[in-house]
Amino acid sequence: MRILLQRSDGKEAAWIADFKDLLPDAEIVFWREGEAAAPCDYAVVWQPPAAMLPELGCVKAIFNTGAGVDALLKFGDALPAHVPLVRLDDAGMGVQMAEYVSHAVLRHFRRFDDYEAQGRAGIWQPLPAFDKMDFPVGVLGMGVLGTRVLQALAQFEFPLRGWSRSQKHIDGVACFAGEEGLDAFLRGTRLLVCMLPLTPDTHNLLDRARLSMLLPGAYVINVARGAHLAEPDLLTLIRSGHIAGATLDVFRNEPLPQQHPFWQEPRITITPHISAATLRRESVAQIAAKMRRLHAGEVVAGIVNRSQGY
Ligand code: NAP
Ligand code: GLV
Repeated sequence: MRILLQRSDGKEAAWIADFKDLLPDAEIVFWREGEAAAPCDYAVVWQPPAAMLPELGCVKAIFNTGAGVDALLKFGDALPAHVPLVRLDDAGMGVQMAEYVSHAVLRHFRRFDDYEAQGRAGIWQPLPAFDKMDFPVGVLGMGVLGTRVLQALAQFEFPLRGWSRSQKHIDGVACFAGEEGLDAFLRGTRLLVCMLPLTPDTHNLLDRARLSMLLPGAYVINVARGAHLAEPDLLTLIRSGHIAGATLDVFRNEPLPQQHPFWQEPRITITPHISAATLRRESVAQIAAKMRRLHAGEVVAGIVNRSQGY
């Protein structure tokens, strides 16, 4: 088996070593622009450049070393349609998302921002506690990661809501589906968590009209993609007081430019796209197992539905 590996983080040696560990008979070819690679069985990529597309047409499957495939599907028809695209299926990201979102939810709900401000001013003053029943948490996207986050939040007994394309039935979660379910979902949500894939249907989903539907004093957590959120609209609604603040891990332009107004807004917490990192060993283990299955003619989970965009 020959595997074409593309990375731009300088960590190719570690990826190659892990693949060699798990697939000792495989030859791993590191892709370099301008160098023709011998024909390969599988490609393993993350945000590949357009220059790699011709090579991707010759493999039996493309493995994406992340959950989101927007950076591949943006190539449209130039991405070979006959080659299955396989995304990461948790691979250690679920627990990271659960940690990140639980932290952000609890930090807001338990008023740590207020206590930090008081602490800096040397003020000892208990503040009125929020009532959980006034803080329904709504998760947009109840897939692999959204479901894991809902499970984590259930431990803290928040009222839970979720929105997905197809109707779900999850104990303890008010489930909404499709465009027709979105307004009702938003109108009953105070803490909003975005865990959707970025597709033509979800691009700019969180605009002024939809964010205005959230309960007053809402809080927004975006761990999906920056382009889900209309950034100026969020700022307007924070400044108007309708939205209390936000924790954002993803942005339209990454790294977030220094002159971006989010940096100056104390009610916005910024992290540099770290809510759920790709864990190399877990990812290589998952991909290697799927390569073995495909090689044996078996089916694998995590094949992207190109028409749905995720
Ligand atoms: P997933 O398993 O494919 O789940 C996607 C969920 O979104 C599903 O519940 C799906 O509904 C729902 N959905 C998709 N399009 C929709 C639409 N138009 N309307 C309503 N619901 C829709 O994906 P995942 O593994 O949970 O990952 C989700 C996203 O997280 C990724 O695509 C990526 O962008 C992001 N992510 C970010 C980081 C980070 O570090 N910031 C890390 C990993 C992933 P159905 O269940 O009905 O199909
Ligand atoms: C990271 O953003 C991913 O999609 O895995």
